Amino acid sequence: MRKKKILIVDDEKLIRWTLSQKLNKWNLEASTAENGAQGLRLAEEETPDLVMLDVKLPDKKGTDLLMELKKAQPELPVIMMTGFGVIEDAVTAMRRGAYDFITKPIDYTKLQNTVKNALEAASLKQEIAYYKEKEQNRFDADQIITNSKAMKQILEMVKKIAESEASIILLQGESGTGKDLLAQAIHHLSRRRNASYLAINCSAIPDNLLESELFGYEKGAFTDAKAQKKGLVELADGGTLFLDEISTLNLHLQAKLLRFLEIHSFKRVGGLKDIEVDIRVIAATNQDIELASREEKFRRDLFYRLNVCPVYIPPLRERREDILPLANHFIFHYDKKFRKSIKGLDKQTEKLFLEYDWPGNVRELKNAVERAMIFEENSSITAKYLPIHLNGDSFSSPEGSLDETSDQNLSLYDMEQKLMIQALKKTNGNKTKAARLLNITRDVLRYKIKKFNITPERFHFSE
Ligand SMILES: Nc1ncnc2c1ncn2[C@@H]1O[C@H](COP(=O)(O)OP(=O)(O)OP(=O)(O)O)[C@@H](O)[C@H]1O
Ligand SMILES: [Mg+2]
Repeated sequence: MRKKKILIVDDEKLIRWTLSQKLNKWNLEASTAENGAQGLRLAEEETPDLVMLDVKLPDKKGTDLLMELKKAQPELPVIMMTGFGVIEDAVTAMRRGAYDFITKPIDYTKLQNTVKNALEAASLKQEIAYYKEKEQNRFDADQIITNSKAMKQILEMVKKIAESEASIILLQGESGTGKDLLAQAIHHLSRRRNASYLAINCSAIPDNLLESELFGYEKGAFTDAKAQKKGLVELADGGTLFLDEISTLNLHLQAKLLRFLEIHSFKRVGGLKDIEVDIRVIAATNQDIELASREEKFRRDLFYRLNVCPVYIPPLRERREDILPLANHFIFHYDKKFRKSIKGLDKQTEKLFLEYDWPGNVRELKNAVERAMIFEENSSITAKYLPIHLNGDSFSSPEGSLDETSDQNLSLYDMEQKLMIQALKKTNGNKTKAARLLNITRDVLRYKIKKFNITPERFHFSE
């Protein structure tokens, strides 16, 4: 295990020297600073595990430096030292988050204990944070549902690629086919699973920001660069970086990415130093980038570099065997979430699902199921609450579908009105219950009933 690093900030040379000697003897690594400014810089550059800080420094108060350190690294343990036990300083220091306070002349037995405890507490905290995050990002390979030969073959291939040392993978497929999901699967099936998985959508960020988002920048690289910033490429070291919608990268960034993929090192914006990292890049696109490269909209050399391990996910209409398993999977999911008891699709809906082309692929299917699950009163999903383009001629009741035109065209007004009606229907017109169901007050409900002119006769419930 690597030695823990301790930063000593004290203006007295003798103290710095004796303390360093002691720390080395305790198998710790020491670095020293003789004033506040230097201390702050070393704390940033060397990321120590603990700081020992003198209360009286030539350029600033130790307790002020403590505050600056804590602001940048809240979990960093700091032990304050003072020549004469000034009680006010001790109180301020503890209030500003110091781990402990020791007085000079230093009692080294006591100090050794304090240092040991502080380091243990800090690494315990880190470990807890690590597991918490891991728990949140836990990925379950069973989440990928498939019954089609095509997808099964792809998953087998993906598993092999994931376990290999391939450092670049290209995922292609229409929107909603599962590229995001697959990229996460690849990370979790790889030896990198315990390191970071970072994702960025290249089309969602303006070009000028994207470069520094990816590669970071040095202090002073441009007007707003007040401090150094690490980019995703650096932060993902040891892990996986998912670059979504790669086709939208501009030519300048394409060149930078290509260079990085070739030499595995890069410079921060405004930086001179080459920084080497070990990451796997998964790039995804729903465009045909081979075509784009032939049309010179995408660098051909970058396309070849990315295309070493290509994975193509076919659209849902080309693997119809997946439709019903996916639908049932989502029904099961929302059934639990919405506390319904809906078990599946009825025969007519099953047929509609199987015949429909799903241009929005799995995402569209998932959304259709979710919406139907909200409103369905039966024990299986009927065609009643399906979007009209799926529902075809069988579409009937005016308040039936939440998606009569398309998601985008449905106004908030319509949506709200439909929710009110559904809630009142469900509760047989009982306003108290309906209000509770909608999580609004009875007054608000009464107001809305008036606003939308919801009369009992119109929607067949008795008051
Ligand atoms: N085989 C599958 N099993 C279960 N869920 C799936 C499957 N494929 C896709 N999904 C789900 O469908 C939704 C859309 O998938 P995803 O976001 O991965 O698509 P995408 O290809 O990245 O789309 P886009 O190109 O629009 O970014 C997600 O909620 C995902 O979890
Ligand atoms: Mg995606």
